[in-house]
Amino acid sequence: MAFEIVATGRALPKNRITNDELSATVDTNDEWIRSHTGIGSRYIAGEDVATSDLAALAAKRALAALAKKTGEPENSIAESIDVIIVSTSSGDYVGGVPPTSCVVQNKIGAKNAAAFDMAVCCTGFIYGLEIASGLLSTGSRKRILLICAELLSRITDWSDRGTCVLFGDGAAAVIIEKTQAPLTGDGKRGILRCLLGADGGGAESLIVRRGGSKNPYRKNEVVDKPPHIEMDGRAVYNFAVKTITDVISKLLEQEGVGISDLAVIIPHQANVRIVEAARKRLGAPEGVFYTNMEEYANTSAASIPIALDELNEAGRLKKGDLIMVVGFGGGLTFGGALIVW
Ligand code: ACO
Repeated sequence: MAFEIVATGRALPKNRITNDELSATVDTNDEWIRSHTGIGSRYIAGEDVATSDLAALAAKRALAALAKKTGEPENSIAESIDVIIVSTSSGDYVGGVPPTSCVVQNKIGAKNAAAFDMAVCCTGFIYGLEIASGLLSTGSRKRILLICAELLSRITDWSDRGTCVLFGDGAAAVIIEKTQAPLTGDGKRGILRCLLGADGGGAESLIVRRGGSKNPYRKNEVVDKPPHIEMDGRAVYNFAVKTITDVISKLLEQEGVGISDLAVIIPHQANVRIVEAARKRLGAPEGVFYTNMEEYANTSAASIPIALDELNEAGRLKKGDLIMVVGFGGGLTFGGALIVW
């Protein structure tokens, strides 16, 4: 029994904002952003778009991809979904009441699915893979829809140049199926192993301080800014380089393979300098990491599956390829997974 990603889809808002355009509203410039982050543009949702809209669009694209592959009607695939997991830290409603996953369930007609949200910041896709595998390994479940969707623009302080240049909106979905392929040995397929971790001691390195139970807004309080991300960039940078390097090394060691056995590593798309520093520490060849933050910036949980969908769509993932995904983010959380495509 294996747990395989059988379809992918992504959705980005229409509105693309370049570094030059952003520089007109905050004290920054294209040269600084590119040289410090590798980011060139980001997509920002219009006011009438909610996280569930992007999530549902990404899900529908994954459903359509599976329909095309199998010939099964899209609506019957939607109805066959056993569980919808939405990973988001910027869902439709405060505290997830109601969960964004339930809103999405209704939008895509997945009427037989259970639905829940998870908030693991940028590591959401990796945690989601492990949770989906666990759910598929028991009971009669066969198909899980894992969606990572973020409208970080809604929790960004657009006057803070230290953070607003980094983030973008986006969503991506994968359908994970229980199949008869072997999980070990010759011809093994699917999600081979996941490694998850957290370091709560770094919780304040990346934080939205206001609006939750710890610091709720009080009656008659004069609020100067809506809830927004505050970040200790240097602390997150150091954590990210160390954890990417450790996670990759551990997963390779556990599987008994080398970095040259990997077709591609898809890291969380936060900052090209983080990826490059990790690559050098690992002694990995140039080009093994796939990056697309130049186009989309950091879309938090959505960044890895957006990249996965891009590679899949471009036909760059071949059956039998060994690929690795590795993430890190608020929490602080981290994780990685090895997948045979
Ligand atoms: N434009 C121009 N100048 C800027 C900008 C900007 N957007 N931002 C900061 N600066 C200035 C600072 O004010 C500072 O100026 P000073 O020397 O006169 O004081 C100078 O640039 C250097 O600032 P640093 O913060 O030291 O810059 P650093 O090289 O550390 O880069 C960065 C900052 C890019 C944020 C880096 O720390 C980083 O990438 N950290 C990781 C962030 C991250 O990936 N977060 C998300 C991960 S988790 C998640 O995805 C939710």
